[in-house]
Amino acid sequence: MSQSFDVVVIGAGSSGYIAAVRAAQLGFRVACVEKWRNPAGDYALGGTCLNVGCIPSKALLASSEEYENAASHLGDHGISVSNVKLDVPKMIARKDAIVAKMTKGIEFLFRKNRITWLKGHARFVADEGESIRLEVFEDGESQLVEAGHVIIATGSRPRHLPGVPVDNRLICDNEGALSLTEVPKRLGVIGAGVIGLELGSVWRRLGAEVTILEALPTFLGATDIAVQKEAAKLFARQGLQIHLGAKIGALEIGRKGVSLAWTDNQGEAQRLDCDRLIVSIGRVPHTEGLALDAIGLSTDERGFIPVDDQCRTALPNVWAIGDVVRGPMLAHKGEDEGVMVAELIAGQKPHIDYNTIPWVVYTSPEIAWVGKTEQQLNAEGRAIKTGQFPFAANGRALGLNSPDGFVKVIADAITDEVLGVHIVSSSASDLITEAAMAMEFKASAEDIGRVCHPHPSLSEVIREAALAASDKRALNM
Ligand code: FAD
Ligand code: NAI
Repeated sequence: MSQSFDVVVIGAGSSGYIAAVRAAQLGFRVACVEKWRNPAGDYALGGTCLNVGCIPSKALLASSEEYENAASHLGDHGISVSNVKLDVPKMIARKDAIVAKMTKGIEFLFRKNRITWLKGHARFVADEGESIRLEVFEDGESQLVEAGHVIIATGSRPRHLPGVPVDNRLICDNEGALSLTEVPKRLGVIGAGVIGLELGSVWRRLGAEVTILEALPTFLGATDIAVQKEAAKLFARQGLQIHLGAKIGALEIGRKGVSLAWTDNQGEAQRLDCDRLIVSIGRVPHTEGLALDAIGLSTDERGFIPVDDQCRTALPNVWAIGDVVRGPMLAHKGEDEGVMVAELIAGQKPHIDYNTIPWVVYTSPEIAWVGKTEQQLNAEGRAIKTGQFPFAANGRALGLNSPDGFVKVIADAITDEVLGVHIVSSSASDLITEAAMAMEFKASAEDIGRVCHPHPSLSEVIREAALAASDKRALNM
């Protein structure tokens, strides 16, 4: 006998669990299928973000920043600390405890919203017109499930490099890199993207000598040109060795480390010897074992499930959200898609403006942006004006010992509408929301400049940059 639900969500990562909660809030009978097992072998909710992504990486970034501050920066405040010691297993245990608390929190949300958690692997069986039939496998047993609507939220997995076998001991993807039990003396990283920079920063702050090999000739190519220059300068000052235009060659694995041949941007043969290697060259959509063909669906050439702007697949009652579909692989993008799809199923008219989804790289300082870069707008031939203001001229930033970075506001040259905001700052992840809000409401640079900002605060720098963009009238510069 099969169980029947109005909505079945496959995957309980950031996008799936939020879709399930919103659908339950709207009165639907909801089930969510999730197969993830934690290192103890227990089923766990939360997907990549909570188990091996956003949450554990930010926990380690915070711990490593505390360590670096205590070891190197408290002296600037006139506080001397001696004998600063590092306990990596304790740091990892703290991170694991945060993960456990957060994933258990989703179990609570499921109970509160009467969402049925079907533990195991889901696979499509048939499209029966009014409903979709699924099969859920758990420990050799299977059960049939009927769903009025199915939301696919099966996420992504790390992309691996041929010839570089990940064992999550010597050679790690994000999972292993978040669980090292000691600081490697020499850490190699392939890929200077978000994971390479965030996890490279964690282990550098804890004492590793970090070398990052990046295939592309530009650094952080998706960011604004001013951010690229500032970030390259700041990371070099911190001691992250980043080589652009690197071509990865053959890998030799020894008992204690690896030796990687690579070619630099001048065509010279090089070798990277390291105790641990992180491979962070992007992620690929995850649809293995889903049997999409059983309901007549397929993936595109890059493995994504094709959807329209509202996350509809080719079938009216099958939707797909999060990392498994086009767009940025960001937790908050998937969450918003989850809310949107649940509301569409309920007959509401939600909308996502993909242009106002903020991005954050949680390095030190953090890098955050929303909207378009100066390069993109120039390529579009759009007439723009820009305003930039440094944190070095802000009293709060100096008090916090965080003088690095700036805010850059880009506005339309004629209408003054804000088109992009780019921030390098210790608190960029929190500051960027003001910019996203302004863009969501189609604010002008002058609008931001006329809003009263608290003094002293880092947010004043956004106002000053907006005033500078609006008509070059920053007040404190
Ligand atoms: P996932 O979180 O991958 O969840 C998919 C779930 O589906 C998994 O739990 C999987 O077990 C389950 N599943 C798959 N197939 C089946 C099946 N057939 N049956 C049952 N269950 C199935 N994003 C940010 O916005 N901010 C960050 O700071 C950030 N940091 C990150 C750090 C790291 C190291 C990594 C790796 C990623 C980070 N991300 C961050 C990206 C973020 O984790 C993803 O964008 C987000 O997890 C995507 O959510 P999702 O629900 O689409 O997929
Ligand atoms: P990424 O796409 O951010 O960066 C991968 C980098 O590897 C790119 O710069 C790419 O040019 C480079 N690369 C690819 N092939 C290479 C090769 N053969 N040799 C050398 N370099 C190569 O991917 P990353 O860092 O793995 O992260 C995956 C995704 O996870 C991100 O795209 C992001 O969506 C998400 N994420 C988000 C975070 C955040 O929001 N703060 C943090 C971490 C991950």
